[in-house]
Amino acid sequence: MKRLQDKVAIITGAANGIGLEAASTFAREGAMVVIADFNEEKGLASEKELLAKDLTCHFIQVNVAERASVDQLVDRVVRGYGKIDILVNNAGITRDAMLSKMTELQFKQVIDVNLTGVFHCTQAVLPTMIAQGKGKIISTSSVSGVYGNVGQTNYAAAKAAIIGMTKTWAKELARKGINVNAVVPGFTETSMVEAVPDKVIEKMKEQIPMQRLGRPEDIANAYLFLASAESDYVNGHALHVDGGIMM
Ligand code: CAA
Ligand code: NAI
Repeated sequence: MKRLQDKVAIITGAANGIGLEAASTFAREGAMVVIADFNEEKGLASEKELLAKDLTCHFIQVNVAERASVDQLVDRVVRGYGKIDILVNNAGITRDAMLSKMTELQFKQVIDVNLTGVFHCTQAVLPTMIAQGKGKIISTSSVSGVYGNVGQTNYAAAKAAIIGMTKTWAKELARKGINVNAVVPGFTETSMVEAVPDKVIEKMKEQIPMQRLGRPEDIANAYLFLASAESDYVNGHALHVDGGIMM
């Protein structure tokens, strides 16, 4: 028996990076994966790539920052597949700048996607999960939200807030049969870290007990655990997947 057999999973930001790896991992474990992403070109290409490997998936374009767009996504999934077993709030962006230079727009853009987007998606799937009497909600935080990071006022604020929201929702929703957890990745090899100066990355690696950055599959495997029945008694947890940098 596959670990997510016949489950319907929405993964936001699944056209690229960690989310795409998670889409592939979930589908290999038997899930029907909705690749929910803003980037239509990449989303369609990722859908094609997975379908070519006989992995069940469906790309639906969404902007998590816009409530109406999220409502349409959820409506299409419920009409098309009849249920939502798993939501992974993985979509995220960076707009890095030192506090002295950060613009109001840079602050707002990151809060809108990384924080308000998680609120939108979680609230939108709630009626379906409550009616089912079960569900799994996983949101992606970051080590930046726990110990801060130079140039990431906006991002660290959103990622710290995700941990607070996760714990709140874990308390509110446990009695409805819904598990709510977060994953806290360290720096991971995706396009998101490409803009980080090499000097910063090298310094970072020296501080990580495992001496390497995370790989998308390291994070996807944590999502898989929190999405599967194996984690049924795990609730309100922030699972660090960071090579030990946060000890
Ligand atoms: N630690 C300590 N000091 C740092 C630093 C760091 N990591 N990064 C920069 N500084 C210092 C610089 O040495 C410099 O000091 P001086 O003024 O004394 O010379 C000062 O801060 C300003 O740095 P810059 O000259 O680089 O300033 P800038 O305005 O050109 O750029 C920046 C600022 C955009 C923040 C740039 O430094 C940068 O991109 N840094 C990397 C930010 C980062 O780590 N982002 C993570 C992206 S990946 C991700 O977000 C995933 C995740 O969840 C972790
Ligand atoms: P990525 O940039 O490779 O992928 C992010 C995806 O989110 C993209 O496909 C993008 O189109 C999508 N997206 C952006 N805005 C969106 C919106 N408004 N609506 C819908 N989709 C949108 O990034 P990566 O690295 O795969 O990041 C995934 C998650 O992991 C993010 O939440 C990120 O903050 C988090 N994270 C990443 C780390 C890293 O070092 N790569 C470390 C810690 C956390």
